[in-house]
Amino acid sequence: MKVAFAEIDLSKKGVIVVAVAPDTTLTGSAAALDQKTGGALTRALDTAKFKAKSGDLIDIIAPSGVAASRIIVLGIGKPKEMSDGKAADLGGGLVAHLLRLPEAQAQIVLDPLPEGEFATAELAAQIGFGAVLRSYRFDQYRSKLTAEDKPSLTRVTITLAEPGVAKKRFAVLEKLAQAVAFTRDLVTEPPNVIYPQAYADRVAELNIKGLDVEVLGEKELRKLGMGALVGVAQGSVNGPRVVIMRYEGGTKGAAPVAFVGKGVTFDSGGLSLKTAKGMEDMKWDMAGSAAVVGTMMALASRGAKVNAVGVLGLVENMPSGSAQRPGDVVTSMSGQTIEVLNTDAEGRLVLADVLWYTIDRLKPVAVIDLATLTGAVIMALGHEHTGLFSNNDTLADAILSAGKKTGETAWRLPLGDAYDRLIKSDIADMKNIGDGTAGSITGAVFLQRFVKDVPWAHLDIAGTAWGAKDKPTVPKGATGWGVRLLNQMIADHYEGQ
Ligand code: BES
Ligand code: MN
Ligand code: ZN
Repeated sequence: MKVAFAEIDLSKKGVIVVAVAPDTTLTGSAAALDQKTGGALTRALDTAKFKAKSGDLIDIIAPSGVAASRIIVLGIGKPKEMSDGKAADLGGGLVAHLLRLPEAQAQIVLDPLPEGEFATAELAAQIGFGAVLRSYRFDQYRSKLTAEDKPSLTRVTITLAEPGVAKKRFAVLEKLAQAVAFTRDLVTEPPNVIYPQAYADRVAELNIKGLDVEVLGEKELRKLGMGALVGVAQGSVNGPRVVIMRYEGGTKGAAPVAFVGKGVTFDSGGLSLKTAKGMEDMKWDMAGSAAVVGTMMALASRGAKVNAVGVLGLVENMPSGSAQRPGDVVTSMSGQTIEVLNTDAEGRLVLADVLWYTIDRLKPVAVIDLATLTGAVIMALGHEHTGLFSNNDTLADAILSAGKKTGETAWRLPLGDAYDRLIKSDIADMKNIGDGTAGSITGAVFLQRFVKDVPWAHLDIAGTAWGAKDKPTVPKGATGWGVRLLNQMIADHYEGQ
């Protein structure tokens, strides 16, 4: 589906969508269409309970007096309450409806919003962005696609008085949408396709200007002393990899912002084997790393004025004769030893080494990790918020506010010594599980032992990386959570500094 921008033309065929705000009689394009159709809009709006709230829509088929086969009246809510996220949701919700229709072409008509309120060109661009995000599909493994499965819609033209301004703004957002789609693809791919080496290859093949990719193999990881990460991988025939992505769009040589991602391409639990029910979900235990890939793509492709690095810890967690045992003690790259009491608490073992590597070798100003770390965060926050942990209030607030702006919301949870005491081991520096209480926090305090005093934030995305239900800009399945938020956070707090 392509998104285009043009001037308003009510004589077009296909679907015409006309946006209206609440508490007004029909004006502008809506009034013009009403007149051409002999009052069809007024009649339809009077019959339905239409309040023009954001996302409300009425679909009038085969109206007479116009070339269009269908007129949709779309409520956009109060212009005063409009935001980027809400505008994108409008586009996403609308396109979900359009994708079910037989028409190939749709025009979305945007009359100017009242002076001083949300810019109409920005509204147009965000509607286009939401439309692209929602029309994401993954058809890679369907050997046949029936006409029924396939949407008819091929082109959405958003029409307004200033199409040039909207088009320019959309060009940037479209790149962001492509990065989100790449993240979703990686997360959706089956685990026999995306194992560590294959994953690293895909990232290395990206070929985006200014984005540099380095891949570390098993031998190098051993040599670096990454005993915690290598221990997780040792049960699998697919060896571990660490991928380092570098982008220097800011001051040459200045310290970068670092993103670190958990990339467990399949988490069976290892010898602490998970039950069969739902185990297939553990193909997406690499969603944190995929969000890092998407974020780096987004920054590079829009030429963000920032230095950034992305580090992915890629392993497969499998049970076998060579697998790590509950009770094993491993030595991490930091030198700290870990008693592995549950091989299913593997994400923190992987992150321990990649976080240490990132801080020790890449010297970032701040580090943000993303991980599908704990089932417990789903108990605490469900699928609505990502769990945020941080040793730095400024960084935490930057993440929270970027989350609100983009609709990818996070909620901060505590760290602290009392929680840290829960991971004391009888025979090593720490153990990889707590006492069963505060499961997400014990995961977070474990990670904190590997970040020194560098400003750090941990995002536990176990509840937000995958959706069972459609949301306005996110079809069910892989969400790509984090790419929009981190891109926004960089734009608001790190660019040009
Ligand atoms: N990858 C899982 C966490 C997870 C659960 C992600 C559900 C997405 C959906 C993680 O590796 C794990 O198994 N965590 C354990 C930790 C426990 C053994 C301390 C958990 O949450 O049960
Ligand atoms: Mn696990
Ligand atoms: Zn896991």
